[in-house]
Amino acid sequence: MALIRREEVGMRILGAAVMIALLQGGAAVVAQSPERGREIFQSTCVGCHTIGGGRLVGPDLQGVGRRRSEAWIIAFVRHSQQLVAAGDSAAVDLFREYGEMPMPDQPLAAEDVRGVLAYIGSAGAAGPAPGLGVAPATEEQILLGRSLFQGTTRLTNGGPACTSCHDVTDAAITGGGVLARELTTAFSRLGGPGIRAIIADPPFPVMQRAYRDRALVPDEVTALVGFLGLVGAQQALHQPRGFGPRLFAVGVGGSVVLLVLYSLMWRRRLKGSVNQGIYDRQIRTT
Ligand code: HEC
Ligand code: HEC
Repeated sequence: MALIRREEVGMRILGAAVMIALLQGGAAVVAQSPERGREIFQSTCVGCHTIGGGRLVGPDLQGVGRRRSEAWIIAFVRHSQQLVAAGDSAAVDLFREYGEMPMPDQPLAAEDVRGVLAYIGSAGAAGPAPGLGVAPATEEQILLGRSLFQGTTRLTNGGPACTSCHDVTDAAITGGGVLARELTTAFSRLGGPGIRAIIADPPFPVMQRAYRDRALVPDEVTALVGFLGLVGAQQALHQPRGFGPRLFAVGVGGSVVLLVLYSLMWRRRLKGSVNQGIYDRQIRTT
């Protein structure tokens, strides 16, 4: 017991030390022009964040400067997983809320992050970047997406098929990979823009490496987003929903059938008492 406590305290101290080291990166206060911040935001953050446009892959960043301290934001943007590992409760909660998707580390100087914050503070609402909007895929695109997903059509730049790491529940696809997450519910969890951002610029190291220098072309991204949308919709249709009354009916029906069966099987069962037969026989012999 005491041993566990001491270990726990040790972990806390370690965590605090990591955090202090992280936070020191943001110690110097420099006024930042929103201009550079705008550039950074539009080139690197916009795939996953909006300013007042709602949740995308990550949270809406409007008002983040009021929710969190500047030092925390700087630490988070540079190495969010270090905060999570150190047990920072805000970071852990966010990580959980966003499906345990690590925000990729942004190798930015502290003043650059401040610039982004200044831009966020000064910007009007910025919805998803143009091109990130969910243009519904045509049927043809969805079919293309399916065959790109399983590799029957090769990706233009030679990247590996998604099935080398992922599987989905789809009639046409068997034997997808198990290295990475099953993607059947990805669309409902991440939304069209979220999937699009992930495919176009994967935040996961393994997937990033697979498509480095072999990025998907925009049409392929649209096709795959469309396909994953279809897979999600199919899944929703097959969900066992509204089973209550039906199950009850099946139960009652089943019981009636069983009762009838039993009564047929036991048609020749003993009626009257066992003694009756003996008694009858004795009456006859005496
Ligand atoms: C690939 C997607 C992605 C990119 C790119 C990205 N983020 Fe994030 N961000 C996330 C996710 C997901 C979260 C939620 C936390 C988590 O899952 O760990 C998050 C959380 C945050 C938070 C915490 C928000 C809050 O409500 O406390 C801040 C601040 C943030 N990101 C800033 C940035 C900045 C600034 C950039 C660009 C330099 C950026 N992010 C780029 C995905 C991304
Ligand atoms: C080399 C392996 C690899 C390949 C190939 C790959 N991915 Fe991934 N992908 C990953 C890993 C690893 C993750 C991180 C999540 C996890 O651990 O499963 C991921 C995550 C994702 C996610 C987010 C899942 C979620 O629910 O959070 C989506 C969506 C996705 N991949 C789509 C694709 C698509 C579409 C393709 C094909 C163009 C593809 N991936 C190809 C390895 C891969």
